[in-house]
Amino acid sequence: TNNPKAVIVIFGATGDLANRKLYPSIYRLYRNGKLSDNFAVIGVARRPLTNEDFRNNVKASINDFDDPNIDPDEFASHFHYNPFDIQDLEHYKALESLITDLDKTYQTDGNRLFYFSMAPNFFGTLAANLKSEGLTTTEGWTRLVIEKPFGHDYDSAKELNDQIREAFNEDQIYRIDHYLGKEMVQNIEVIRFANALFEPLWNNQYISNVQITSSEVLGVEERGRYYDSAGALKDMMQNHMLQMLALIAMDPPIKLTPEEIRSEKVKVLRALRFFNEDEIENYLVRGQYDRGIVNGEELPAYREGNGVDPESNTDTFVAAKLLIDNFRWAGVPFYLRTGKRMQRKSTEIIVEFKDLPMNLYYDKDDDAQPNLLVIHIQPDEGITLHVNAKKGDYSASSTPIQLSYDNNAQDKMNTPEAYENLLFDCMRGDSTNFTHWDEVALSWQFIDIIADAWSKKKADFPNYESGTNGPKEADELLKKDGFKWWDVS
Ligand code: BG6
Repeated sequence: TNNPKAVIVIFGATGDLANRKLYPSIYRLYRNGKLSDNFAVIGVARRPLTNEDFRNNVKASINDFDDPNIDPDEFASHFHYNPFDIQDLEHYKALESLITDLDKTYQTDGNRLFYFSMAPNFFGTLAANLKSEGLTTTEGWTRLVIEKPFGHDYDSAKELNDQIREAFNEDQIYRIDHYLGKEMVQNIEVIRFANALFEPLWNNQYISNVQITSSEVLGVEERGRYYDSAGALKDMMQNHMLQMLALIAMDPPIKLTPEEIRSEKVKVLRALRFFNEDEIENYLVRGQYDRGIVNGEELPAYREGNGVDPESNTDTFVAAKLLIDNFRWAGVPFYLRTGKRMQRKSTEIIVEFKDLPMNLYYDKDDDAQPNLLVIHIQPDEGITLHVNAKKGDYSASSTPIQLSYDNNAQDKMNTPEAYENLLFDCMRGDSTNFTHWDEVALSWQFIDIIADAWSKKKADFPNYESGTNGPKEADELLKKDGFKWWDVS
């Protein structure tokens, strides 16, 4: 078969991500026939587990699936555990021989996928030792998947990158941005470039503004320690939000290769207008959640959370007005907004078209309705086009109607999960939906200026109640341009 073959080595195998996302994704690939029997997973972590313990964890993580056609023990038999101390070179030798054995048993053609799913301060040592102990040299391919956060600013990202580049080439490195694995994020390009309808209008002559919102209901929960040194700007804006922006704003690639697509995305990031420190407040709004009522329950403020400084200056909300200074987009604001403890969990992109030069059907009693294209990323997946049509009565005015496509309804059972898509892509050697170093570097350079300015000046936090859509300044940001956030779903 053409299914990919590999030994997958997961560092951080007892962690939350591995249990919640990776094992279920491997299971789904297996169940959906994307993985044949030529694969093995080696779980690597500090804890002294047996294979049996490890397999029990794996089985627990896939418990929800309950697929009668798949024997969970058979699936779990592909999983092997290897207790490991990152500093101890002897352990690398043992790991090498386990990989070699499993490669023979499962006939994986010498292919190795290393997955770093653990605290990033170990990545450098780990990469260096993998190389020095010969684990990165094999007959097949060797690839590295690396989780976020990729640095906390440009300098730390560069340092991390230099360390892993000692052991892996850029084309062996797959940096995860799990938003790029989401079905509807991948759909942005298809919607844009496979329809005659949109691309001719996709520019500053016809589009008045674009809004990208990713809101969450949860607070920072148990991640206070990490989050308090990051904040929404670094946790969401630097990666997921700017990636979605790049996909919405890029020019059509000349071919569907990772290189061509990436080069168009990079051009968008290069055209982003960088703000001076004293302009920042005209373009960005930061927020931090206060107490508030969510689903009938009174919840504590961010500053009252575990691991959070009681006087924390960390943003849990950001709204930004970004400008892309190129021929296509000059003058079109891109409003991006993300935050925790907001009204609902949802990610949506809204493209608002300009009004017609003259509209005879505009009825003063109604709100004028611009055409909107809404791309629903989650939890609903689909697109909605807001258009105007004749009302069902004698009047000559128009009324807004919606044309909708609901991806969930089409294929509920089989919509692949983000991590499933990404793992499969990596095993096939397709790096399209991963972030290249150029993108990481540019986006940090852009974010650093804002983060620096914010760290110098203490904000008036908390400034929005839990369960609301952020501080009122975020609404003002659009209002002063004559726009408003559309709340459409
Ligand atoms: C992660 C952030 O990258 O994305 C989290 O670190 C955030 O803070 C999460 O909650 C959101 O992802 P999703 O897929 O639930 O929208």
